[in-house]
Amino acid sequence: MHKTKDTSSTTAARVEALLARMSLAEKVGQLNQIGGAEWSPGPKPEDIIRQGGAGSVLWLNDTRRFNVLQKVAIEESPSGIPLLFALDVIHGYRTIFPVPLAMAASWDPAVAELAQSVAAKEARAAGIHWTFGPMIDIARDARWGRIMEGAGEDPFLGAAMAAAQVRGFQGTDPTDPERVLACAKHFAGYGAADGGRDYDPVFLSEAQLRNVIFPPFEAAVKAGVGTFMSAYMDLNNVPASGNRWLLHDILRGEWNFEGFVVSDAMAVGSLVTQGFARDRRDAALRAFDAGLSMDMASNTYLEHLAALVSEGALSLEALDAMVRPILTIKVRMGLFEHPYAEEGLLERVVALPEHQVAARLAAQRSMVLLRNEGGLLPLSKDLQNVAVIGPVADSMEATEGSWMVFHHQPAAVTVLQGIRAKLPGARVTYAPGPEIRRVSRSPFEDLESKPLEPPQTPEAAEAAFQTAVATARDADLVIMVLGEKADMSGEFASRSTLDLPGRQEELLRTIAALGKPVVLVLLNGRPVSSVWAAEHIPAILEAWEPGSQGGAAVADILFGDVNPGGKLPVCVPRSGGHAPLYYARTLTHNPEGNPMYRWDSPTTPLYPFGFGLSYTTFACSNLELSESQIKVGASVAVSVEVTNTGKVAGDEVVQLYIHQRWGSDSRPVRELKGFERVTLQPGETRKLTFHLGPAELGYWSTNAGRWVQDAAAFDVWAGGDSQATLHAEFEVIA
Ligand code: BGC
Repeated sequence: MHKTKDTSSTTAARVEALLARMSLAEKVGQLNQIGGAEWSPGPKPEDIIRQGGAGSVLWLNDTRRFNVLQKVAIEESPSGIPLLFALDVIHGYRTIFPVPLAMAASWDPAVAELAQSVAAKEARAAGIHWTFGPMIDIARDARWGRIMEGAGEDPFLGAAMAAAQVRGFQGTDPTDPERVLACAKHFAGYGAADGGRDYDPVFLSEAQLRNVIFPPFEAAVKAGVGTFMSAYMDLNNVPASGNRWLLHDILRGEWNFEGFVVSDAMAVGSLVTQGFARDRRDAALRAFDAGLSMDMASNTYLEHLAALVSEGALSLEALDAMVRPILTIKVRMGLFEHPYAEEGLLERVVALPEHQVAARLAAQRSMVLLRNEGGLLPLSKDLQNVAVIGPVADSMEATEGSWMVFHHQPAAVTVLQGIRAKLPGARVTYAPGPEIRRVSRSPFEDLESKPLEPPQTPEAAEAAFQTAVATARDADLVIMVLGEKADMSGEFASRSTLDLPGRQEELLRTIAALGKPVVLVLLNGRPVSSVWAAEHIPAILEAWEPGSQGGAAVADILFGDVNPGGKLPVCVPRSGGHAPLYYARTLTHNPEGNPMYRWDSPTTPLYPFGFGLSYTTFACSNLELSESQIKVGASVAVSVEVTNTGKVAGDEVVQLYIHQRWGSDSRPVRELKGFERVTLQPGETRKLTFHLGPAELGYWSTNAGRWVQDAAAFDVWAGGDSQATLHAEFEVIA
């Protein structure tokens, strides 16, 4: 009786008709998102929903319960408006894909799109309409735990990955029952937290924001993202969730974003905690005025917005304008026609074999070969006696990685399993070595009421250490699988060091001293650094947190069924003390020469941005420009040839960097402005063409206070990483 069934009327007309009959309280309700988890604060969801007091529910992952709550919304609430069910589906729902940082290491937007389309299909089958992803914060500090959730340090790569993920989640048709609404988060600057400490204040100039932090967000808007999430932290002393410049001037004013903005969890209420708002009423008023549409779980809007309107502090027109995009999305998604989830559908969708195929492909494409001295890799499948050592070698949790959906049961192929599957007749022994664990318990464990397991005693750890060494001693070749547990990266998981946690490096050194060939496989959400390993371990594969098929993909690469072609989406610093570190820095007055001149340790990365090896070799040549001089506003075409100069087929990611030699502002030593991942047979050559025009050559200038494109000389490099030497130059004239 409440439902608008007339699909012939336009979306706008349906939304206006709804608004016309909704009470003030119901309008406020649409702006309120409530927690559906057992531990969520506030009254029982049913009671709020029945009064029309909620537009969306989060932290619930239960198809039956979705339908129960939806029924209350539709049949018992005054206007019968369906709920939007939201959850963090970050890198897979049931089929788990590599963490987003790893996906960025594929330098393959198509595979990121594929991954998120599978995640969307599974999540939607479970009844989820809306994911809080993609997370597209540029992060240049590897100590920050959430670096694992984004595409790394670079705005150009980050923008490509942001757009791809939005396409993957949302598709092109909002009524598509196999897609979910996406949410670009966290707007903006969260990845630049002081010292990499989660939630700490952020200080970024307007030029840094516009040139580095915003490009992925603007790309998400252009890709049609339906929603944004405001960040938690202070941005230049104004919390992002109360920041009108961000949420109104930039997002709506400049980018014409027409969707809606949800706060991060409890962030509206936190405006008081952060010393910005006087009280919760003030917090509601200021977040609303800033352009924040939906209050995630702090109840501040629910408590105060209606009174603020009645008192005249907010206009009804402003309230309607805030509600309109939420209703529009619900109408467009077809929720009024199809509000319920089909129970049982999920199991059928999850069983689709192509999902595991996609997970294996994504994992293969995201891994980065960091070292391969003497061609130790690929390994022979004739090996008879192999030891697999390390605390994450047989851990499904570490293989799937950080941030699973609630109540997820880990089910990944571990590296040990992957290796055993490649060597069916061989002796493959395994020892984990001493356990690794977080310094402090993760709050997520408390939320899910996980029992507290007592730590290994020093004696037990020592025994495990000795067993691992003995196991290695008995083998012909050792594969060490080291890194981080899943809860060591992600939210609440910043670290002050990038060392391998626990006694892992000590174990690595001890086993390497046995004199056997040692291969190191790293499973980690953030870059970890071992300068010693980079110098002494002949073969190192960065496998990240590779997801459901991670161990199978590692084995595919170790045994040469797949040739690795991923490249680092971040510089790997030599230690935590070297962070933040990124390649696109500006020059100092003493630029090159001995970096120790100005610091007590090399300031160069352990591995540079864009770096990654292959089982074959590549050469780039014939870097040519269509013109040597162009006018401001014109474009130049840059072509380069890439040849597979080795003996096996493989992938190279050809990267194009520019440098502007002088200008209105100092410009970074290099900036990525083009890339393409290509597969080449031995001896094959491919010619690639990139274009450099105003979008690539312009930037936001601090000095001019606006976007500029300068007349200046430019360097261009093309090659396989950010230290490429193949060079050309051109000039832009006025
Ligand atoms: C995180 C967000 C997440 C939200 C909802 C917050 O703690 O910062 O990224 O989407 O919780 O789970």
